Amino acid sequence: MRRSMRSLLVAAATASLVLPLCGVTAASAAPPGFSNADKSALRNQAPIDLAIGSAVWGKQQLVGYDPADPTEYQQVLGAQFSSLTPENDMKWDALRPAPDVYDFASADALVAYAQANHQQVRGHTLLWHSQNPAWVTEASTTWTCDEARTVLEDHIRTVVGHFKGQIYEWDVANEIFQDTWDNGGVRLRTEANPFLKACSDDPVGLLVDAFRWAHEADPDAVLFLNDYNAEGVNEKTDAYYALAQEMLVAGAPLGGFGAQGHLSLQYGFDTSMQENFERFAALGLQVAVTEADVRIPLLAGETGPTPEQVATQAERYDGMLQACLNVKACSSFTVWGFPDANSWVPDVFPGEGWATILEDDYSPKPAFDVMLRSLRDATPGTSPRKG
Ligand code: G3I
Repeated sequence: MRRSMRSLLVAAATASLVLPLCGVTAASAAPPGFSNADKSALRNQAPIDLAIGSAVWGKQQLVGYDPADPTEYQQVLGAQFSSLTPENDMKWDALRPAPDVYDFASADALVAYAQANHQQVRGHTLLWHSQNPAWVTEASTTWTCDEARTVLEDHIRTVVGHFKGQIYEWDVANEIFQDTWDNGGVRLRTEANPFLKACSDDPVGLLVDAFRWAHEADPDAVLFLNDYNAEGVNEKTDAYYALAQEMLVAGAPLGGFGAQGHLSLQYGFDTSMQENFERFAALGLQVAVTEADVRIPLLAGETGPTPEQVATQAERYDGMLQACLNVKACSSFTVWGFPDANSWVPDVFPGEGWATILEDDYSPKPAFDVMLRSLRDATPGTSPRKG
């Protein structure tokens, strides 16, 4: 039987506030009305060294936030999560409407909400082949590498500098490798990514500098490579592993590897996820699950997910969470938004959906309950995780 939305909102008034900052654990004063007594908040059950996050689109959900009169969504977001990732607000198309214009309005609103709710922020993202504004796409057709570097350096220094001290992890480079099924197989996206394309003679050199610029702008932020289809040990993560080694040898301030965790019940679960995280951790990197969701394909004759599908979804979420809990270097576990009504999935995968951990009335799905239980079990007594 479903627990009510009310039970999650009770959690809103009672979530604990102990925040790991920049890899260092630090206690934070609780806001009025909050205590650590409630047991139904993910953030309240998590190990002290693991941030539990959600994506949120600040422009749609947080602009105009009034702490004295939050929406139900805002209450649940604050109650359940200790970390937020801007789903769209820190992408180029949001921040750079024109070459000489930076618009931080919705990203600033997100950061302000996070601070009011004692949450950390994961920055997303500084170098990606998607959601670039038209002026980038147009200009990039004639860019020399030097011209591309100048534009990217200005963007990274300005954006990371703007949020200096307010972001604990940055997805510096997002989805920079192709997949096995793409033309040319697994290799750096030196065609689709306008910056890597302009610098295709030495794309790794550009990546090393991108991380360096970000580090110089905010030395405390942990800087990540991030991608999908990057959960288990596979050809793509082998390429990332080699790249990470190459970047570290070159002196890049690379600090983390993020597996997005966009799964579908059409496919099985890759049980090598923990092993994959362990090999990146052995390089001295943090690891993270950065965009977890588990989409469900509608079966013939069904109008919604079957109970079996819902149970399997919970297992998949838990599989990813366990891989993270079992590797101490796993610093954050982020779900890619909630509830289902806010999910990107149906727009992109017709016939699939129900991908998040909360129903549209914010009542918890089995996936939520399993995650809550696993977080609790990982921290017998109190905070530091076992093992
Ligand atoms: O730009 C317009 C905006 O002006 C307008 O207000 C709005 C009205 O709906 O539409 C805006 O475009 C949307 C855009 O996000 C915002 O820039 C698109 O419709 C929407 O489809 C687009 O989707 C996002 C998608 O990335 C785009 O690539 C999703 O919300 C977001 O969840 C998704 O996130 C990505 C991660 O960043 C990287 N990993 C994969 C993940 C899922 O695709």
